[in-house]
Amino acid sequence: MKRIGVFTSGGDSPGMNACIRAVVRSAIDSGLEVCGIKKGYNGIIAGDIEVLNSRNVSNVIQRGGTFLKSARSKEFMTIEGRQKAHAQLMEKGIEGLVAIGGDGTFTGAMVFEKEFGFPMVGIPGTIDNDLYGTDSTIGYDTALNTVVEAVDKIRDTAHSHDRLFIVEVMGRDAGFIALRSGIAVGAEAILVPETTTYIEQLLHKIQTDWKKNKTSSIVVVAEGDDYGGAYKVADAVREKYDHFDIKVTILGHVQRGGSPSAYDRVLASRLGVEAVRSLKSGKNGVMIGVQNNQLSYTPFEKAIKYNKELNQSLLELVRVLSI
Ligand code: F6P
Repeated sequence: MKRIGVFTSGGDSPGMNACIRAVVRSAIDSGLEVCGIKKGYNGIIAGDIEVLNSRNVSNVIQRGGTFLKSARSKEFMTIEGRQKAHAQLMEKGIEGLVAIGGDGTFTGAMVFEKEFGFPMVGIPGTIDNDLYGTDSTIGYDTALNTVVEAVDKIRDTAHSHDRLFIVEVMGRDAGFIALRSGIAVGAEAILVPETTTYIEQLLHKIQTDWKKNKTSSIVVVAEGDDYGGAYKVADAVREKYDHFDIKVTILGHVQRGGSPSAYDRVLASRLGVEAVRSLKSGKNGVMIGVQNNQLSYTPFEKAIKYNKELNQSLLELVRVLSI
């Protein structure tokens, strides 16, 4: 193997740049040429591919987003799109790819590898932390800290005005951000997609708190919660009680940006270096992760199909700590 490519795909996450840097430098260090591909799978199809050197990844470890840019490619979902992508890779002499992204990215990688026998290795990059086979995904820790910083500020104003805040965080299918950030900010309740939300229980809880002289409260809701999000929860409270002064905050894409935390930079660096090693040694079709602080390899199929379990005992912790 002489030349490999690296790209970022799906929703961006803080630490992707640190990971690209690690892939580029470790590839060069081991005698490989490395190409950066722009805008995920779309860039492969379009041949938007350039050789990167060590200096091209200077001064990026601390930057959020991805300098290679990212996209969700519809064309790559078609066989015609994948054939074009394969032809471009052949033309550019690329013999293996490192894909940084989430489950959509790995689904594409798995299909591509099966169809063309093309060596692919994945690195988990998503703020959602919803990938089986790794304790943490690149960007999750930074996103958590962003949420905590924001909700601490909300807490100040909630306390000053005796208000109930319903704060919505990202997580279309997973409650990892909601659960961890909720514990860290001392939320009164946390609603996640992994468990059924019984709205009456929540209403009872905030009313009991109010009677116990809790004058302000924070409820953290994951965007994918089955009850329907922060505005719906706020409506349900308003319908039942008229003594709460309720505000809704949707944190949105602010969670996806910002300088990566030290944890995410180190994780991204470890995974990037290992991905190149793995590709070089012919260990393909896997996502590199970290489990119990050890590097691990999970076949794409498993990483996509299996659900990472949310630690439900932490929800009980929230109940105990918010009395
Ligand atoms: O997958 C990461 C994520 O941030 C989800 O939590 C969120 O639902 C989604 O991406 C938003 O995607 P987009 O930026 O395309 O709206």
